[in-house]
Amino acid sequence: MKKEKYYLKCTNCEHITPDFGSWFEQNQTCPQCGSKRSEVWYNSDYKEFQYILKGNPENFWQYFYYLPLNRNENIITRNEGAVPVQRWWFLEDFARENYGLNIEVIAYRNDLNGGTGTFKDVAAALAASIFKENDIKQYCVASTGNTATAYARYLAIAGISCSVFLPEDALSASEAIISAFGQQVFRVKGDYSKAKQIAAEYAKKYNILISTGNIDPIRVEAKKTMVFEWLRQMDKIPDVYIQAISGGTGPIAIDKGIREIKGIYPELKNPRFIMVQPDGCDVMVQAWEKAQAAGFPEGFENDYPIIESPKTAIPTLATGNPATYPIISKLVKDSNGTFLRMKESKLVDYGKLVAYERKLIIGPASAVSVAGFFEALKHGQINDGESVMINLGEGFRRAPEFAAQLKNETKEISSVDECQPHQIDRIRQKIWDNILKD
Ligand SMILES: Cc1ncc(COP(=O)(O)O)c(C=O)c1O
Ligand SMILES: [Zn+2]
Repeated sequence: MKKEKYYLKCTNCEHITPDFGSWFEQNQTCPQCGSKRSEVWYNSDYKEFQYILKGNPENFWQYFYYLPLNRNENIITRNEGAVPVQRWWFLEDFARENYGLNIEVIAYRNDLNGGTGTFKDVAAALAASIFKENDIKQYCVASTGNTATAYARYLAIAGISCSVFLPEDALSASEAIISAFGQQVFRVKGDYSKAKQIAAEYAKKYNILISTGNIDPIRVEAKKTMVFEWLRQMDKIPDVYIQAISGGTGPIAIDKGIREIKGIYPELKNPRFIMVQPDGCDVMVQAWEKAQAAGFPEGFENDYPIIESPKTAIPTLATGNPATYPIISKLVKDSNGTFLRMKESKLVDYGKLVAYERKLIIGPASAVSVAGFFEALKHGQINDGESVMINLGEGFRRAPEFAAQLKNETKEISSVDECQPHQIDRIRQKIWDNILKD
């Protein structure tokens, strides 16, 4: 008998669920122990993996053999997940001149994803494809914005109705775009926790499938392909990985991807995870600092504060009740990484810096990642000779309000007498001064 392509295994009791059809029927829960966390594994010896890496993919479906979809006619794609990594010399120069460090700085350009320009596109593409294969017609999700927007678009492409629960502080651009795709927005009077709670009640009331959040095996399987992409493009895993963190699918998926290919790459290990949060919503950083001060006592991972209705200018990162902290904090600790906070008051300055030095407009959550690089240097978290990846999770089209703040100097004039020729280099010093002043 031919072996099935994949199966799900409970991370708690190892119960096997044969496929996503069964997983959905059993309410995305392990029937044996009730855990929501199962991982996908493949009946493969990964012999083809090295050949696949030599390809020149248009999207992450290049890794179809290692994705939980049986028939490729169910693939839905808008060219996501094969985004480039780029050397950012201006940050390498900065580290050399100011800290005496010779490092490689790599930006991972998730803003270039074809779906909605965020690193949520791969998950939405995989979800839409799996739902198509399993004849799912209705879905719902609570999200701070980017996941919702990506799911709204990809599910709409697959003809699937999607109800989206946005917290009240979500960007109005997200709301409009989701609605424009034809999906239903429920704007919840309350924060992200409240949105998740009502979405769960809605799912139960109408028996509609709901995203299970950061441990959702669909999201994890999609995002793990970033590990494969790094191997394809760089032939290595970076020493340090910097990301703005909200719920933490990023590190969970990287860890899964690396474990998945241990058989053929026994030497691979997780990068040092440097997880960055804005000071307006820094629950994980607070928990980590407390644990660190106490010498990481037994059970430190279960001790974290909860902020009701966090006040942050980056609604994408507004997870005030980080239920995944127990998982993420362990991963971060095991990787010798850390959690760092950045000052939101300087968010626009980081946006301006990248715009000036790279001629690239990034989104606010990406600016948090870039800030994390500077914080990591300040905290002595980067060593000589290392490669440091900064995950740019979103482009500016997700947050037009942010782009509108990046203005440097406009002169109001009424006659040519008030105009002098422009020198592009003149602005540089001012931009850097703003970054470096505290
Ligand atoms: C652009 C961007 N950066 C970072 C994050 C945080 O992602 P994670 O789920 O890994 O915490 C998100 C999503 O919440 C995001 O959209
Ligand atoms: Zn179980």
